[in-house]
Amino acid sequence: MYVNIESLDHKGRGITKIDNKITFVTNALAFEDVDIIITKIKKKYNEAKVSRYNKISKDRIEPLCPYYLLCGGCNIAHMSYQEQLKFKQNKIANIINKYLDKNIEINDIIYSKQYNYRNKLTLQVNNEIGLYKQETNDIINIDKCLISDKCINDKIKYLNNLDLKKIKQFILRISDEEIMLIIVGNKDLDITPIFKYFDNIVIKDDKYYLKKGNDYILKRINNLYYKISLDSFFQVNYDIMIKLYDYIKKNCQNSLNVLDLYCGTGSISIYISDVVKKVNGIEINENAIEDANYNKKINKVENINFICSDTKDIKLNEYYDTIIVDPPRSGLNKSIIKEILKVKPQKIIYVSCDPMTLTRDLKDLKNVYDIDSITPFDMFPNTYHVECVTILNLE
Ligand SMILES: C[S@@+](CC[C@H](N)C(=O)[O-])C[C@H]1O[C@@H](n2cnc3c(N)ncnc32)[C@H](O)[C@@H]1O
Repeated sequence: MYVNIESLDHKGRGITKIDNKITFVTNALAFEDVDIIITKIKKKYNEAKVSRYNKISKDRIEPLCPYYLLCGGCNIAHMSYQEQLKFKQNKIANIINKYLDKNIEINDIIYSKQYNYRNKLTLQVNNEIGLYKQETNDIINIDKCLISDKCINDKIKYLNNLDLKKIKQFILRISDEEIMLIIVGNKDLDITPIFKYFDNIVIKDDKYYLKKGNDYILKRINNLYYKISLDSFFQVNYDIMIKLYDYIKKNCQNSLNVLDLYCGTGSISIYISDVVKKVNGIEINENAIEDANYNKKINKVENINFICSDTKDIKLNEYYDTIIVDPPRSGLNKSIIKEILKVKPQKIIYVSCDPMTLTRDLKDLKNVYDIDSITPFDMFPNTYHVECVTILNLE
């Protein structure tokens, strides 16, 4: 079926209409003329793939990754990088302005390198090593992942030296000098064949078995050190993380009492601690809070207090002039929004990795707060995901 692609959806898929029914076309760019095959018919929309490109967009490039068409990791690598950046900026503008019924101009997107940015890679194992194919649990065998750091790629070949039958997953995480390998599988696995290639090796069975080095890595960011344990969240793109944290730091300069909600390993709290008077950090993951307290100590920071709690259960009983929130994709829960509105900080810095849940939460905050600015950060190049920071000021 011959169609013209009208625009892109927020996942970077082409949109066309067939008998007035929206049809999402994978790997198709705006204004391309393509032949399509329908792959899924739903009540309100269809999904389709391209069988032939008749007129291609000037923004289309040949993806560098040989696995791109099958692998579920990246989804917009067929767009030039300039176009990817434009797409992400427009996506945020479209979602925010449509659902908030406003006309907010989105700041220019902050970006860094397009490839080799990921400091963590999870490889699936099923007799061979790979990544999940698009929308399935089947594995596509790979020997490199272009968005992961070169050090990670250098090590993939050694993993084949192990007895893969006993393994479900490999997780590789790097800092500047160290590389950690977490093996999900059988604790009795003999790791001798790969012993010399990794600084830290841990086997995860029903619990953790440390086989070499430490069960964490240390990452240096400027003059600060961060301990990152096996299970703790840490931003996957160090270059963008620094730009993001610098931006947050600039925006909370001279605050007297800051609340850092969803603080993880305390990375933001510690980063801003020299320009604010006091910080309280709240995080649900006990290991991350342990890391946060360790990080506070090794960086000789004294004006932070970390608390392990679900934000759902928090009652805020003191005044904060700045509240930073950095929730997972699900966004803020209603109870913490209520608490924030009770405290009424002068400024809210909302770090979001999902513009949809951000918009939902802004709906609750916008009656009391002015949206001062929204700045996207390209934390995840070649995928449709985008991070952004919204600054809200009390009206
Ligand atoms: C996007 S990460 C941000 C971490 C940190 N701000 C950083 O920059 O590294 C979100 C964090 O929220 C934590 N989290 C998820 N749900 C939570 C909840 N209900 N209450 C408190 N923390 C939660 C996760 O464990 C994770 O560390």
